Amino acid sequence: MDKIRIVGGRKLAGRVEIGGAKNAVLPAMAASLLTDETLVLNNVPAVWDVGTMRRLLAELGVRVEQPSRRSLSLSSPSVRSFEAPYELVKTMRASVLVLGPLLARRGRARVSLPGGCSIGARPIDFHVAALEKLGAEVRLEHGFVEAVTDGLRGTEIYFDNVTVTGTENILMAASLARGVTLLQNCAQEPEVIDLAELLNRMGARIEGAGTRTIRVEGVERLQGTEHSVIPDRIEAGTYLTAAALIGEEIEISHCLPSHMTAMVDKLEELGSRMELGETSIRIAGADPIRAANLRTLPHPGFPTDMQAQLMVLLTQADGTSLVTETIFENRFMHVSELNRMGANIQLDGHTAVVKGPTRLSGAKVMATDLRASACLVLAGLVAEGTTFIDRVYHLDRGYEHIEEKLAGIGADIERLK
Ligand code: EPZ
Repeated sequence: MDKIRIVGGRKLAGRVEIGGAKNAVLPAMAASLLTDETLVLNNVPAVWDVGTMRRLLAELGVRVEQPSRRSLSLSSPSVRSFEAPYELVKTMRASVLVLGPLLARRGRARVSLPGGCSIGARPIDFHVAALEKLGAEVRLEHGFVEAVTDGLRGTEIYFDNVTVTGTENILMAASLARGVTLLQNCAQEPEVIDLAELLNRMGARIEGAGTRTIRVEGVERLQGTEHSVIPDRIEAGTYLTAAALIGEEIEISHCLPSHMTAMVDKLEELGSRMELGETSIRIAGADPIRAANLRTLPHPGFPTDMQAQLMVLLTQADGTSLVTETIFENRFMHVSELNRMGANIQLDGHTAVVKGPTRLSGAKVMATDLRASACLVLAGLVAEGTTFIDRVYHLDRGYEHIEEKLAGIGADIERLK
């Protein structure tokens, strides 16, 4: 099992190129099940979860080729199987994204329930309820969701809670349903908009993506197309935070600042100075770092996937900051590791009270989930001495060569096989 070793204290300067968004490419890959023609995706990031989705789609009979390093070509002339096995789903809950397309294309789907992960129970009850409203018969047994339908029919659906993959699953299913579907209380994340744009290029008729209400007029069939995946706003936010923490002057390129307003505003509130371009951000480190409160919300609010990373910055801020996590019930796993490095963070239910500034010192720490791992890398960059991070496979799920990109801007960081 690989480890990452960081010697803290090195100032960062230079340019980081951002890759395609993990949370956009995964639904886009699942959309290949909706057509028997070929779907070509570009700007595909080299992250572990893309490999897992490839294996899952291959199980379902999708032919996946990689014509170039950052492109995938997916075609599923016949969907051979209908089952997303537990072995794959348990490593990546985004596997649930094959449920809607399989049901819409072939009238059947059997997907293992994802089970919890370290940040929470992560049920899929909103996905199931919406599919039932579209006319599917759904049974939960032996740890699987079994869904069948003799044809999905458009209807009105209201999501009790905003759900990103729930909105994406139903968008894909409704694209091939008979009649019009009106989805309300939808997720507005850029990744939802990117999927809707892809589906429309495949011949779907979707209006309103990016707002709380989306209208889908079902069509008979969808065609193949070519689509370039949007940049990863969370990867970009992670490097912005590294720059705010211990950067001189860093440029983040191939990103979309328009997807990152809440993150940019928060970093400015903490004292960072940024220049925004169309597809780049230049940022100078904040000195001193000001304390501020943080509350995670559905887009366009501050993203929960950036909460752990921002918390590192708050440990260096002058004063007390309150961090409230409203999306997941247990997304403070990084707090105990940060406190072991010298942070002063108390938990009070869904709120963490961060007192700063505190001197962090390098330690042996363990990653528990994707974004908590990124947070520990950031802490290692600013800590005195050497930090060893174990279980870096969590990092590899969503960050492409993070140690190479950070070494490229001056960090003393290496991967130990
Ligand atoms: C997506 O997960 C992202 N994953 C997550 O990113 C992200 O943290 C999350 O959205 C919130 O922005 C992908 O897009 C692949 P939700 P998702 O459904 O769709 C509850 C990362 O680090 N809920 O919006 O699973 C749920 O438990 C990952 O890249 C139900 O109760 O999140 C959570 O508390 C981590 N029932 C809240 O709603 C449901 O049926 C929001 O979850 C669905 C969700």
